[in-house]
Amino acid sequence: MKKDFISILDITREELDTILTEAARLKRLRAAGTPHEILRGKTLAMIFEKSSTRTHISFEVGMNELGGHALFLNARDMQIWRGEEIRDTARAASRYVSALMIRAYKHGTIEEFAKYANIPVINGLSDMEHPCQLLADIMTMQEHFGSTRDLRVAWVGDGNNVCNSLILSTVLTGLDVTVSTPKGYEPAAVYVEKARELGGKVTMVRNPEKAVKDVEVIVTDTWVSMGDEEERSDRLRLFKDYTVDSGLMKRASPDARVLHCLPAHRGEEITDEVMEGGQSLVWDEAENRLHSQKALLLKLLKKS
Ligand code: CP
Ligand code: NVA
Repeated sequence: MKKDFISILDITREELDTILTEAARLKRLRAAGTPHEILRGKTLAMIFEKSSTRTHISFEVGMNELGGHALFLNARDMQIWRGEEIRDTARAASRYVSALMIRAYKHGTIEEFAKYANIPVINGLSDMEHPCQLLADIMTMQEHFGSTRDLRVAWVGDGNNVCNSLILSTVLTGLDVTVSTPKGYEPAAVYVEKARELGGKVTMVRNPEKAVKDVEVIVTDTWVSMGDEEERSDRLRLFKDYTVDSGLMKRASPDARVLHCLPAHRGEEITDEVMEGGQSLVWDEAENRLHSQKALLLKLLKKS
């Protein structure tokens, strides 16, 4: 296992399997009310440059349930915001805590932390990737469909950070991913190329109705990610044909399910009807952030 978890491809197929097996075990222990304080005495520092609900709560509750402690740090309250260098923050923090989780605007910020911290660094979302989200999404698909191998998935909307991680994940999971975005909003070409080079199945289809034809899973996310707010009005106009609504759902397999990392914007990338409907797995997906991240922490802190 690598020291850090910055990209979903920082773990191997075998490590992903171990994490998901452990996540399922932790989920059962929690449901049974069985204590599992495996990380007693450990502290996770969580640095947030951007807002968060799920990532913040699931990591903090996860550390508490594992018997450890989580420390919430708003980057704006840290010396880093006044110009202290990342390498100095990373080395000082390494003397206090057992691991660092960082949500940053720039992917490079997290990489810089990892370079200088001698403790595990976890990407809690950057402009380029959201690997923790993918752990939960893969867990949710496995729970529902039994396996991710050759499962047909369509990403509809913005080719953003979560989309990039989904694309990379094809290398580990065997998912067959079709991506449908407006022109100019495709996922990063380097991720698509890397996934394909490593045997991942990734197809680009402009038309969302064609992209979702007969798929088993439709995944979407906001059209306006954190950091893109100034482009909001242009994006709403350009993305208007990419809403996941009941019409689009009808083109997928009759048993298809919907994933959304949340927060959702009903009436934009997804309708209220689909969010609240029987094909939505979004609440299991949100819950699985907790179990999969607990398993990740155990793996990174070498307790599993
Ligand atoms: N999906 C996700 O990362 O949610 P938050 O932004 O609320 O953490
Ligand atoms: N793509 C979204 C994900 C939020 C969890 C964003 O970056 O804002």
